[in-house]
Amino acid sequence: MEVVIPSKRRLLLIGGSLAAVAAPALLSRSTFAKEKAGAKSKETRKKDEEVTPPEDLMREHGVLDRVLLLYEAGIRKFSSNEDFDPALITQSAEIIRDFINNYHEKSEEEHVFPRFKKAGRMIDLVDTLLRQHEAGRKITATILKLAPSGRSSADDRKQLIGAMQSFITMYRPHAAREDTDLFPKLKDVVSSSEYDAMAEDFEKKEHELFGEDGFERMAARVAQLEQRMGIFDLNQFTPHG
Ligand SMILES: [Fe+2]
Ligand SMILES: [Fe+2]
Repeated sequence: MEVVIPSKRRLLLIGGSLAAVAAPALLSRSTFAKEKAGAKSKETRKKDEEVTPPEDLMREHGVLDRVLLLYEAGIRKFSSNEDFDPALITQSAEIIRDFINNYHEKSEEEHVFPRFKKAGRMIDLVDTLLRQHEAGRKITATILKLAPSGRSSADDRKQLIGAMQSFITMYRPHAAREDTDLFPKLKDVVSSSEYDAMAEDFEKKEHELFGEDGFERMAARVAQLEQRMGIFDLNQFTPHG
């Protein structure tokens, strides 16, 4: 398009018959290009709005990682006897239960893991990941049970810290393996139409469970908890000097 307009101007300056012949051709070429660009941009827009299955799962891991940071901050506060609202731990664990254990991991278990099993690829890894999901659900239940009494009972606090720590210890490598070893291979074990259908299934389920802006709302809930926990300002993690 950038090339067409100056050359069209140049041709019109030449005047006479050449312009008369060339201009309609240029105009139709320009119109065609415009139509093509319009159609393409519509298509690109649709594609832009679509989140691929690995991208979808990885950004959910981002939410998971931010909750792990909340757990770590809670552990630090407990360890330094700094008083804080135990509801912050409960609300963090609720996000894990609802968004990670009952949604993200269900997507992996229903859509991702069976494809690898069927293809006979990374069976051991998938088995371990499955066992970790089970263990994760149990730890989340423990965290939810102990969080309310974590401030008043030293014994519960100790167990709560242990549960949060073991959750962090398991999930950091769990999510990292999925991001680097499993998700990048997803395209090898599904057809491109299955891949697209999977993306739609993920989106549909997310909207069903958490509303139209499910992911954004979940990220905003995490950000609010970070603010209340005092870890929202990213600058605090930059080393000075
Ligand atoms: Fe997982
Ligand atoms: Fe995951």
